[in-house]
Amino acid sequence: MCGIIGYIGQSNEVGKILIEGLKRLEYRGYDSAGIAIVRDGSLTWEKTAGKIVKLEEKLRGTDLSGSLGIAHTRWATHGEPNRVNAHPHLDCEKKIALVHNGIIENYKVLKQSLEAEGHEFETETDTEVLVHLIEKFYKDDELEVAVQKALKMVDGTYGILVIAADDPDKLVGARNGSPIVVGIGEGECFVASDVAAILKHTRQVIYLEDHEMIVATHESFHTTTIENEHVDHNVHEVEWDLEMIEKGGFPHFMLKEIFEQPETIRNAMRGRLISSTGDARLGGLNMTEEELRAIKRIVLIGCGTSWHAALIGEYLIEEIARIPVEVEYASEFRYRNPVIEDGTLVFAISQSGETVDTLAALREAEKRGAHCMGICNVVGSTIARESHAGVYIHAGPEIGVASTKAFTSQITVLSLLALVLGRMRMVSSTEGQKIVKALQTLPDQVAEILKSDDEVKKIAEAYYQHNNFLYLGRGANYPVALEGALKLKEISYVHAEGYPAAEMKHGPIALIDENMPVVFICPKDSAYNKVIGNINEVKARQGKVIAITNKGNKDVIDMADHVIYIPKTLDFLYPVLAVIPLQLLAYHIAVLRGCNVDQPRNLAKSVTVE
Ligand code: G6P
Repeated sequence: MCGIIGYIGQSNEVGKILIEGLKRLEYRGYDSAGIAIVRDGSLTWEKTAGKIVKLEEKLRGTDLSGSLGIAHTRWATHGEPNRVNAHPHLDCEKKIALVHNGIIENYKVLKQSLEAEGHEFETETDTEVLVHLIEKFYKDDELEVAVQKALKMVDGTYGILVIAADDPDKLVGARNGSPIVVGIGEGECFVASDVAAILKHTRQVIYLEDHEMIVATHESFHTTTIENEHVDHNVHEVEWDLEMIEKGGFPHFMLKEIFEQPETIRNAMRGRLISSTGDARLGGLNMTEEELRAIKRIVLIGCGTSWHAALIGEYLIEEIARIPVEVEYASEFRYRNPVIEDGTLVFAISQSGETVDTLAALREAEKRGAHCMGICNVVGSTIARESHAGVYIHAGPEIGVASTKAFTSQITVLSLLALVLGRMRMVSSTEGQKIVKALQTLPDQVAEILKSDDEVKKIAEAYYQHNNFLYLGRGANYPVALEGALKLKEISYVHAEGYPAAEMKHGPIALIDENMPVVFICPKDSAYNKVIGNINEVKARQGKVIAITNKGNKDVIDMADHVIYIPKTLDFLYPVLAVIPLQLLAYHIAVLRGCNVDQPRNLAKSVTVE
């Protein structure tokens, strides 16, 4: 959740490097921030409640020169997001500074014994025990050894960075469960939660594994386990460039990402479709045809928007490949006693590849002998590395906290997967060709829908003051209703619920009156006639209907108060199109309500705590 960055190197501008890096990480957490720099054998630090700009304001006039430092942007777990609880945390003598992303589960016991030994605590955080533990061992050991000893005593997850005033040539980092990437520059080293923070300086990176550490000096660095065994890492070249993590003229990352979708959907399919035979190819699966044919059951796991993509995946795979699919919230899967039989294939779907529940569910499935795949966006992320194989969605960096382009790319990849599996079963080449053609048309169709942005904005203007919304759809469009409602909740703090349209009669209908906008996702698919009945039921109770449908669908058009048109496609591909106006609607409502679209309150992009 939190974002951390550290620097050691030849530059004397560590403050600038860290603040710039923090801004790139702000989407991971933004309730408080802080920085610590070692210069001339002493530690300078500052922290504040609020966003990075607040920290910058506070630092105005402060000398931030130096060549070693660490910084943090927080998403609070233990302790209010105030200045005291903000990181970095310091030891009793204010000589060691530490930033942490994760949770120390046994902090209470440790705190008690450290207090008994005379350590004075200032904060309500779990993190502070770590810095006091390090202080305890640092009296007799090198900094990295003290860190190792401290880490062996804690249970929980961490990505940490540590510096000490009297060791001005050392930056120590370690990970367990929270990502750490090391950027290798010329005579300098950047250590951060995410490549976005260091992309401006280098694209050469290594990824630490769990229970590993990095010790960097001004000249070099080395990596070990926390047991102090040496480990070698391959250096990876990051494909993303700086432009991809900028707003590119859009007022918000979310809007930029919504508008990128024609391209990102195309990228998800690039090189993976064979028009002539109606096939798809997903090399990353790394399974033989025989193995793919032997699959008896598929389990899709994810959280948030990725879970919605999984629900659509269930429709796609069952419809096209006729393989039974189960969709599970990762957080539930990991704590149940899931049945994994021979022939079960598990897919962990995660944009970031770091969501802790999805990762834990993946590990649980692996432990039970399932063949596990990842469907991730972030290359080199933990889920991508820990799954046996998988498919990247290639959506490029997604910075807006509310996921948009990753969702449509996830569905696209799941469609390709359904086609791969379907063609090995009952889907003929002719049917396959039809699906391939429909898939190839999607990017242009999404571009077409994006042209109706102004109309969607007008609808937003009419309804932005409403405090409740209902989203209804059937079949594969039911998860789209869930996703539309989630987008609105996340960024505008408006209460919204998604329901299967027919279920409305079993409860939500009681909410309908002239103040209730109801968004119907009702393209001309096999459920169309049934949804018309549901629209009638809403209209009969004076509800306001916003319909997402195709041109020419007269019944809907006549009944709805507002209509947003989407082009025709195959029934099971409508979710890719239907979600676009819902993303735009949520976006415009949030802007009109004055909400911070890219950094909604209480949320974080990457949820690395349980
Ligand atoms: C957070 C984000 C959501 C995202 C979910 C799962 O809640 O705010 O946008 O859908 O995590 O994230 P993942 O990276 O695993 O897809």
